[in-house]
Formats: sequence, structure tokens, C-alpha cells
Amino acid sequence: MIQNFYPFFVLHTNQSTYAFRVMESGHLEHLYYGRRITVTEARDAEILTEKHVFAPSNTNVYDENYTSFSLEDVCLEMSSYGRGDIREPLVEVVHGDGSSTSDFRFEDAAVTQGKAEFKTLPGSYDETNQVQHLTVALKDRHYGLLLELHYYVYEDCDVITRSARLVNESGETVQLHRLLSAQLDFDTPEYVFTTFHGAWAREMKRTDVRMSAGRHVSASYTGTSSNRANPFVMLSKETTSEDFGDCYGCNLIYSGNHYEAVEVSGYGKTRFVTGVNPQSFCYLLAPGEDFEAPEAVMAYSHEGFNGMSQCMHHFVREHIVRGEWKRKARPVLLNSWEAAYFDIDEDKLLNLARAGKEAGIELFVMDDGWFGNRVDDTQSLGDWQVDTRKLPHGVEGLSRKIKEMGLDFGIWVEPEMVNVKSNLYEKHPEWVLQIPGKPHSEGRTQRILDLTRQDVQDYIITEMSRVFSCGEISYVKWDMNRTFTDYYSSGLKPDRQGEVAHRYVLGLYRCMKVLSERFPKILFEGCCAGGNRFDLGILCYFPQIWASDDTDALCRAEIQTGYSYGYPLSVVGAHVSACPNHQTRRMTPLKTRFHVACFGVCGYECNFCDMTEEELDEVKGQIAFYKEWRKLLQTGDFYRGRTFTGQTADGSCLMLSRGNVTEWTCVSRDRSCAVGLLLQKLVAPNTQYEYYRARGLAPERKYCFTYGYQPANEDGKAAECLAYGDALMYGGVKLKQAFSEGGRHGDMRIVGDFVSEIYLMVSE
Ligand code: GLA
Repeated sequence: MIQNFYPFFVLHTNQSTYAFRVMESGHLEHLYYGRRITVTEARDAEILTEKHVFAPSNTNVYDENYTSFSLEDVCLEMSSYGRGDIREPLVEVVHGDGSSTSDFRFEDAAVTQGKAEFKTLPGSYDETNQVQHLTVALKDRHYGLLLELHYYVYEDCDVITRSARLVNESGETVQLHRLLSAQLDFDTPEYVFTTFHGAWAREMKRTDVRMSAGRHVSASYTGTSSNRANPFVMLSKETTSEDFGDCYGCNLIYSGNHYEAVEVSGYGKTRFVTGVNPQSFCYLLAPGEDFEAPEAVMAYSHEGFNGMSQCMHHFVREHIVRGEWKRKARPVLLNSWEAAYFDIDEDKLLNLARAGKEAGIELFVMDDGWFGNRVDDTQSLGDWQVDTRKLPHGVEGLSRKIKEMGLDFGIWVEPEMVNVKSNLYEKHPEWVLQIPGKPHSEGRTQRILDLTRQDVQDYIITEMSRVFSCGEISYVKWDMNRTFTDYYSSGLKPDRQGEVAHRYVLGLYRCMKVLSERFPKILFEGCCAGGNRFDLGILCYFPQIWASDDTDALCRAEIQTGYSYGYPLSVVGAHVSACPNHQTRRMTPLKTRFHVACFGVCGYECNFCDMTEEELDEVKGQIAFYKEWRKLLQTGDFYRGRTFTGQTADGSCLMLSRGNVTEWTCVSRDRSCAVGLLLQKLVAPNTQYEYYRARGLAPERKYCFTYGYQPANEDGKAAECLAYGDALMYGGVKLKQAFSEGGRHGDMRIVGDFVSEIYLMVSE
């Protein structure tokens, strides 16, 4: 609900309230964002305004008419440089006269119903047209610029989205150096800024920084949203835990260079900003032109990190992911990559698919290596013609045979790239991002096609349309395997090179939009050397993303825990792979590899033809279990308990096992059933007692709790007990005493390094 009690604007979701007002000077003072409060008339909001009487010494007043404050010490909805505020601005423009002072003040506001679409970018959507939209127009009257701030209120998800649009209404071209999407000011310091950092194969490592003073930035300059720093971040208090306390989550619907910063001012006020990374960004806006900043998604919960994650998960499932696959069960797939790498041929693939079919697989995916002369990663990207030495009957023949087996067929492509060793590069060297006549940096011996150019976008759309129609293709893995260097497009004038990074993303979105609409039945999975472009922009077109090239169960548990703060299980691709693991050489039990992968869109990525009968039987059982429970695992509500990396939820864990356990629960939306996981890192000797605590159950309902889904008892039935939801959540299930040197009894828990167990809860 949006209340317009001019000069106050109050936005309510079910559990949160967001408020600001127009100051007498025309600036927007941010008043409140947090737990829902009641406002029935303008007077109710008065207490939220800061009582300014004078500007602090050594600060500057806005002008001689307004001497009671300095913009440096006011919580603002948006800010710019030049009239007193020296903190991170939302907008930075260099005008025709060379000045970089901007002065945006309130012009008018309007509340409308429904989600408006961007002209150039993907955004959230609302099928039910329930979402309310507040547009606030601000004007820089000295320079003739219009700035629109957009707010959308998704009440049931406790999400408010924000974006901004700048229109050049002056007679001169201006240089836009930044237009961020959202700015959030708090009147106190000491917020904890949580970011998710990493690199290839170790994405989404949670990092907490307590902000007392200065500035902390989490940003990407890889050209992608990146595995170095995901655009999803959180702000919380030191006392916030998984289940209690204030938590703000923020994500950006954008797949390129992004920027999130927290700054604490000299007056102890905290500012958070998010948007397109201003580094090397310079966009020319001619008279009449406009620029859209991507949509930022903000969620607030007073129920800790889990509470905020629930809001984000719900929002992503309902208002980001779209198309035929939005609500469809995702198939269990078998991918050829770790089974055969580039060394594929029709016989090998058919044998693998046959073994997969036998085990219960539903979709067979042919990964890299099927086109051009792709015997390794040094050549052929760009030449999307089938290698008939490997596939004598083409993709068409192979896919038909796979279909005849009763499996769906999927294919791997990397459309945005070209190897120098390729026919495409020979024909069109000008189609890559590189500085003419200058040496070029290399990554995986490939270069990035210049998607700022429409002819290159058209080529990708045509080529991929051909590939996606060259057989019975039900699934596409869209990969992108390098980061940007040498940002330069030969299609743009020198003064427009600062637009390359952003224009690339817009070009990519055009390709993804056209192709996903042209092939609505295909299930697209995004991939970028694993999770180098795991973001809400991609998810607007592709309903799932390969989360990491690291398939080691232990690493994956940490990585998937990281993603779970901002993303639901239904978008996280997770595979069971062979041991020793190809990224870490670690041996982990097959059971554990599956347990971790089933908390995601589960698939397999190993050579079924090499596996023993026992292993294949185990895999069969896993797939059967996943098919039975996947609706819950793919659409249920996911909660973190104790985790390897983060702080414990209840602070009560054993001294010896601190950070040694990952505990997850996924509950069906109607709370009637749940699946839990307990995964141990390393055995510590003589630590015999362990427990599992559920989350998210209905406290008053009675559940049948099953220890593991595979029979553990002699009578062939897994052990069970009955318990109320509250006892399972607040008390927890105490597990059997574990093996210890002194005790060798039949009825005990045998533990080892990397062991895990799954628990099932079904209400009566
Ligand atoms: C990337 C992907 C892998 C695989 C290879 C193929 O690394 O993340 O899953 O598809 O490319 O070259």
C-alpha cells in the first residue's frame, strides 16, 4: 500500500514500512525503513523527521534561504555532488559547461497500479497487477534535467523495488558518470555489511564487515555480475542471527558491472547505494535522450537472515522467473562434461545416455565439444557447425536417438565468444571487443564478441535459432567463459567508449529475450564458468543457473549456503559428480554428494558407464527419491540452520564442532512436509552427541519424522518417530550416540568425514 500524505510518502508491505518526505527546500528526506508501523495521517509521520535547527560547523548550507541544515547531514532519498552532500551520490553528471554540480528537487509524484516495463532492461513483473507504483519526479532546474525515482511495492513478498531514470531536457549533451538504482540512508552507524565474494569454483563466500566509519565497496569489473562479488548484499545489526533481528537484503536486476557501497559519514549516518558500477562508466545523453538504471530489489525482515531470505526467495520465484518453466518441475539431467570433457562422440554419448536412462535420468545434455574442430578450448568458438567426425548423424540424428530412448535432449553453447582460431574470427575480426592496433589480453584463448553492435546481436540470434532448431532440443546450457579486458568497441566513437560495458549487457538482454521468446519450450540454464553471472537479470530470461564449476560436496554446501541468502533452490543448478572430485581431488561419500545436490535443481555430471553396480543402484535410489520429493525441494521454503561458515543460529553448538555442521531444511509451502539435511565436515574424536533442528514447520502440527530415506533397520524400514512441529524446531531431534573409541555398540551412529543424513517430516 502506498500512502501519499503530502509532504509524506509512506509505503507498506505486510511486514515493513518505508517512508520519506519532501523538505521545504524540495529535497527528499528519507525517514524510515524497517518493521511495519502505523501511519493514518501526515501528523503520524512527523515524529520520524529529524529536527534540524542549524548546520554543523564546517559544513555548507544548501543556500541562504535554508540555513537550518547541511545536505551532508540529512538522510536523503537521492543525492548528488555540489550543494553540500559529500557522501556517495546516486547521480553524477558533467554538464555542457563542464560543471559537475547537480541540484535535483521535488517536482511532482504519482501513484499508479501495475508494473511498467523498462525500455532497455529486464525487470520484475506482476501477473496479478497488484503491485503499486510510486513515481517521484525531481528536476535540476538550473541545467534542465529530469530525474524520476520509481518505487514498486510487492506487499506479500515484503519487497520494495527501486529504480531511476534520467532525462536530458536541456539543449546540450551531458556526460552521465553514474546513475545508481537505489540509495538507502540510515540515521545511525554500526550496520553489518554482508557481501558474497569469491572466484572461479569458490563462489558466494559470505563476508561480514561492521561499518563504523569510512566506505566499503563490493563491486565487479569483470563485465559480468561476477563470482568476485555477487550483486546480492545484506545489511543487518551485530545482534541479527539467522532467525532474529533486523535484516535488509538488496539485489540488482542486472548482469554487468555493479557497485554496492556502504558509507558512514562524519555524523554517524549510514548510506547504502547500489547500481551499475560507475568505474570507467560515461554515458552521453543528447538532448531528449534518457537513461534507465536497473531495478534494485530491497527486502526487509525483523526475523533475521532466514526471514529476509524467505522474502527474496518468494519474490524471485513469483516476480523474476517467468515463462513455461516457472512452475514446472525441472528434469533430472545427466551432463557429459565431467564424464568426457571434449572427448565425445555419438557412441559414447549414446552409451552414457542409455546408462542414464537406466538410472532414471530424464534429460541428457551434450556439453562442450560437438562443433567445429573443438578438440580443446583453443579453437572453434563461433563456428556452430556440428563436427561430423564426432557426430556422423549430426545433432539431429543424435537427439532423435536420445528421444527414442525416452530422454529429452539438451545442448551446450557459448554464443557470446569467439576463438581467434575460428572461421568467424577470420571473417569478422572487427566483431570482437578489442582496441584496434593494440595488443590484447587473453582469457581461455577466446575473445568476447562485441554485443554492443546490432549486427553481432543479429548474428547470435540467427546462429542460435539455427542451432536450437537443428534437432529435438529441450534444454540449452548458455555458457560464457571469460571476463572482460580491453573494453572497446569499433562500432562506437571514442567519446562513447565509456558506454561499452553497459551496452554489452543491453545487447545480451536483447539476444536472450528474442531467443527465449522464440523457443518458449526450451529450458535455458545460464552458466558463466559456473557462477560468474549468477544474478536476477539472467533469471528474468533463464529460469536456472549453474551455480559453480566446483562439484565437491563440501565446497558446494558452502557455496549453496551462500546463494541461499538471496536466491531460491529452484534457480540453483547442482550436480552429483565423480570422486576423487575433479576440482579438489577430495573423496566424499556418494550419498553426501547427492544430499547436497538435491537441495537445488539436481542433476548428475559423472560417467555412469564407469560406475559399479552398487553405485548405480544407489544412484537409482537417489533419483527415485528426488523425483518423489522434488516438488517440495524445488518450490518449498528453504531455511538455514547451522552452517560451516556463518555464525551459528542458536549459539549453542559444541565447542568441538563449531562451524563443523551444515543444517538445512526445506518445507512445503503448506507446511505439510519437509526435508532436512545434516552434513558433517570432519570427525572430531569423542564428540558423541549431535542433533538436528528443523525450521519453518507448523508448530501445532504433528509430524512423522523419518531418519534418512533409505532403510536403516533390519526390517527394511527407516527409523521413525512422531513429534510436534514446535518440538522439532525449538527442541530438535537428538540423534543416537556416535562411535567413540570406548564404545562399540550396535545401536550407534557411525560417523566419518563428510557424512550426511536426510530427514523427512510429514504431517499427519
Ligand atoms: C565452463 C562451464 C562448464 C563446462 C565448460 C565447457 O567451464 O562452467 O560447466 O560447460 O565450460 O567448456
